[in-house]
Amino acid sequence: MAEKPWSGRFSEKTDAAVERFTASHAYDRRLYPYDIEGSMAHCRMLAKVGVITTAEADQLVNGLADVKQELDQGEFVFSDSLEDIHMHIESRLGTRVGEVAKKLHTARSRNDQVALDIRLYLRHETRRVIDLLKTLRSAVVALAEKNDDVIMPGYTHTQRAQPVLFAHHLMAWYEMFTRDQDRFVDSLKRTNVMPLGAAALAGTPYPIDRPYVAQLLDFPAVTANSMDTVADRDFAMEFLAAASICMVHLSRLSEELVLWSSSEFSFITLSDAFTTGSSIMPQKKNPDIPEIVRGKTGRVVGSLMALITLMKGLPMTYNRDMQEDKEPLFDAVDTITACLDITARMIPEITVNREKMRAAAAVGFLNATDMADYLAAKGVPFRQAHECAGKAVAFALGKGKELDQLSLDEIRQFSSRIEPDIFDHLTLEHMINRRQSIGGTATATVRAAIAGARTHLASEKTE
Ligand code: ARG
Repeated sequence: MAEKPWSGRFSEKTDAAVERFTASHAYDRRLYPYDIEGSMAHCRMLAKVGVITTAEADQLVNGLADVKQELDQGEFVFSDSLEDIHMHIESRLGTRVGEVAKKLHTARSRNDQVALDIRLYLRHETRRVIDLLKTLRSAVVALAEKNDDVIMPGYTHTQRAQPVLFAHHLMAWYEMFTRDQDRFVDSLKRTNVMPLGAAALAGTPYPIDRPYVAQLLDFPAVTANSMDTVADRDFAMEFLAAASICMVHLSRLSEELVLWSSSEFSFITLSDAFTTGSSIMPQKKNPDIPEIVRGKTGRVVGSLMALITLMKGLPMTYNRDMQEDKEPLFDAVDTITACLDITARMIPEITVNREKMRAAAAVGFLNATDMADYLAAKGVPFRQAHECAGKAVAFALGKGKELDQLSLDEIRQFSSRIEPDIFDHLTLEHMINRRQSIGGTATATVRAAIAGARTHLASEKTE
């Protein structure tokens, strides 16, 4: 059994059950590349300020590289007695480079070390999420561009409301994912701050050079207060909040894909490669991908709840409770990256059933508002115009017709202001193209939105 780094003060061995209970290596081992990268930078800094010699730093850095290789190759042996990944690496370094390994932890604590590891990890993963969001947004824009003349019913309360361009609907998703991406870009600013040097909680008497460590690890800034540095995980909470909102968007998109691909809607067909069959019902083609994405949303929201609840009662500064930050964070990262990736792959595979969409937009009185608008344009106050159109809908329902199927005489019963040009106003194209208000569904407006999105995507710099 490995000797504990704190054995000086202890006369009894740690109980095996305690070792099992407190160990975190089973999950925090995934931090190893960041832990080693951070330790290498720490060694270089210690040598730069003269706390260790350059020869010692070289020995440590080379030893750390060897340990990394062992970990990369999966040859590493883990043990509960060394609790976490940080102690495993330090202990293994000792067996490889001998006595000098004992200098690695000078001017450092696991409290600032683990804060560094999580920040490095989350910085990497946040950039990956941002890239995936970019890919997803491009896929959404491409589908909109390919189908920029397809008309569908727009819904409120899941009831047909007014006709819209399918591309307009898609561009609504684009906007949601753009804001999601902005939230990640913003949370990244607060994750991307270098914590090492806070040591246990109060800073360190060694003449350390924190900006140098920041420079080596490509951080634009160092944290300002040592206590805050080891006490908080708000950057992770922010990531999880952004991830939860993004998953809610993905879940709603998924819900629509499930509905639209049903026989009842038949608005879209998902490709065979992105659907699954049934083991009993030969006819089935199930939208499992959007269903699973919708289902996974709860996990990410759950992770946010777990971390927020974990932190809420903690006094300053580091508390061991905080070891529980990792599993929810890792799970949320794995979940959101998988969901973004699969959704971005599935979207280009969607076949749009334009006739079905158009037919659905043509029935159900989606032009009733436009009849009211027509009358209002002729000088009828809108409330009164609304009433006339409502009566016309009731009349048409009784006849089993749509508004545009009524004869001129039939429709004129509801207002003497009605002229033959009413029927032009009630066509799908007319309704769509009259909605030229900023952000509306007119073809030209939507095409401009698509072009704007393309320019925006092309100009986005890599984080
Ligand atoms: N495994 C610990 C964690 O993730 C590392 C920090 C331990 N620090 C301590 N003082 N016991 O939180």
